[in-house]
Amino acid sequence: MDLFNTIQSLQTEIETQRVEGPADIETFRIKYLGSKSVLKDLFGVIKTAPAEQRKEIGERINRLKQLAEEKFAVAQESLKGLQVDNAVGPKQDLSLPGTPVEVGSLHPVTIVSRQVISIFGSIGFGVAEGPEIEDEWHNFTALNTPPDHPARDMTDTFYIQQNPDVVLRSQTSTVQVRAMEEGRLPIRIIAPGRVYRNETISYKHHVYFHQLEGLYIDHDVSFADLKQTLYFFIQQFFGDEFEIRFRPSFFPFTEPSGELDIRKKGTDKWLEILGCGMVHPNVLKNCKIDPDMYKGFAFGMGIERLVMLKYGFSDIRQMYENDVRILRQFSAAR
Ligand code: DAH
Repeated sequence: MDLFNTIQSLQTEIETQRVEGPADIETFRIKYLGSKSVLKDLFGVIKTAPAEQRKEIGERINRLKQLAEEKFAVAQESLKGLQVDNAVGPKQDLSLPGTPVEVGSLHPVTIVSRQVISIFGSIGFGVAEGPEIEDEWHNFTALNTPPDHPARDMTDTFYIQQNPDVVLRSQTSTVQVRAMEEGRLPIRIIAPGRVYRNETISYKHHVYFHQLEGLYIDHDVSFADLKQTLYFFIQQFFGDEFEIRFRPSFFPFTEPSGELDIRKKGTDKWLEILGCGMVHPNVLKNCKIDPDMYKGFAFGMGIERLVMLKYGFSDIRQMYENDVRILRQFSAAR
């Protein structure tokens, strides 16, 4: 075999050699790079080659040496990685501080919903739920909403399907109907959840937001009970910093109906936070409850409004932009 062939077969040998553990690496080093290596021997025999070939042979043996050195260096490097991964070496300083784990925070809407649930829970209201995709009956008809009522318009409510109509619920009042249809009386529930409206988005309106519905049905429920319940809630939720104003209003599903406004003492801006009233006899009948035997009150409040007032948000959109600078301010709340 001439020298060129020897060099070629050595190159293939070096390239395909497996060098995986410390023992392999040492064998490799001795064989190709040590003082008695095969490469050393090769350099020794250059002079036996014909004079005109010596230069080229010398270059090729040099390249072979480089190849062996590179392969050796790569193998050594990977050995270092192994030692750290397996934590076998004295490479880790266990007294160093660890990588901090970021803890998320609850969204202000969740925080406020939980507070409201807990306040009403303390006076005997349980939590009820209903679907966000609703039929026309639960969103409108059972709630005594006439066929030509503007809320039914597609410019107000998102329709998923028509005839039969299926909508994204525009109010949590749907859950009142579902609770009454279950037929277990008396009823004392609150229903927090997301609602959808076809609104132009602004600082105080969004296409989705959260409401919390309340319903109390029993034999002798009065408007005084309603007011007292709401006063208790406001006092618990806001403390003494806020004052309340009751206004007459209209909703198809309550009679009489009212709205409750609230403002921070010392400021002059009233903000509406809820609608309420005595459950309309038609609604009771629609849900197979006898209006001569039972009465009830209902209310529905906007959670985002409560958040804005309590935490000083000036724009509802700030709640849905996921700006961590805002969200992090709530990291202490649980
Ligand atoms: N559903 C009404 C709305 O979205 C709010 C409301 C008003 C709910 C009066 C009630 C109620 O339960 O009695 O504007």
